Amino acid sequence: MSDLLSSSSSPSSLLSLPSQIEIKSNTSIIWVLTLFPEFFDAFLKYGVISRFLQQKNSPIEIKIIQIRNWAHNSYGSVDDYPFGGGAGLIMRFDVLSRALIEGVFVAGNYDLSSIFPSKIPEDEKNIFNLQSTSNSLLEEENKMQKEKLPLVIYTSPKGETFNSNCAKSLAKVLQGLEEPKKLERLEDKKRDIVFVAGRYEGVDERFIEMFVDREISIGDYVLSGGEIAILSMLDSVIRQIPGVLGNSGSIEEESFENNLLEAPQYTRPRKFLGKEVPEIYLSGNHAEIKKYRRNEAEKITQKLRPDIYDQYRNAKKE
Ligand code: ADE
Repeated sequence: MSDLLSSSSSPSSLLSLPSQIEIKSNTSIIWVLTLFPEFFDAFLKYGVISRFLQQKNSPIEIKIIQIRNWAHNSYGSVDDYPFGGGAGLIMRFDVLSRALIEGVFVAGNYDLSSIFPSKIPEDEKNIFNLQSTSNSLLEEENKMQKEKLPLVIYTSPKGETFNSNCAKSLAKVLQGLEEPKKLERLEDKKRDIVFVAGRYEGVDERFIEMFVDREISIGDYVLSGGEIAILSMLDSVIRQIPGVLGNSGSIEEESFENNLLEAPQYTRPRKFLGKEVPEIYLSGNHAEIKKYRRNEAEKITQKLRPDIYDQYRNAKKE
């Protein structure tokens, strides 16, 4: 069973205990707490984002943590029946809290002073193992850098709906450019992010109340777990980080920028099955091509997404 995968080496080759986490300097960490680390293998292995994450000095690192390492019994149980009856099983508060506190907060050497004793009384501190050998792997200079608690996101159909603005704001959090809402310590600049993937019928509400900063949904439909939602969010957040996409123009012109969908695009061959590329694209007149693209983007947005088109029109008036 894989315990921890990291983006800095090939996914399946880096399997180690959470206490052996190595934290590099000047890196923002995205942690994922999941019962299915294997879901993230392909994401960490293929495509532009994988290439970016595997660079020697990547500013972002992803750490995948297996929640079952904190199972409450030797059978590896992490869930239980809902009090009051009802269908399905619920992920346990104790298991998730341990996974978050020991697997992320302690292993990542975050400052725990905003949890103990304000959230958890001092006399309950001994429930958790607050010693991590990972500390010894941190260079002295890095100890200061991971003091701020990470932003905790739980993915669920009940949450605020994820969109392009949300992706941009989370990318800014990772870069230390913007404060997320509801921060306890507003002086914090740079924050890491933890995504918690729910399974079964959800998680015990007390975990959300105590630890979750934002609950986010990827749409009005129900998935059988949070992993696919997290993968979508990871992809769209990380591609916002400068350097991930070779040509920064590709972000500026893509769909949802300035409340417009992207204009149609074409490549070779010029003519195939009787269909030709619009003449203007072959004209070499860049100003005219730009105008044409903007016009096409407006038309397609008005037709396919009148809701976004209204926002575009309103913003234009201002
Ligand atoms: N988990 C289950 N359904 C989900 C959704 N729509 N968005 C995010 N997480 C989920």
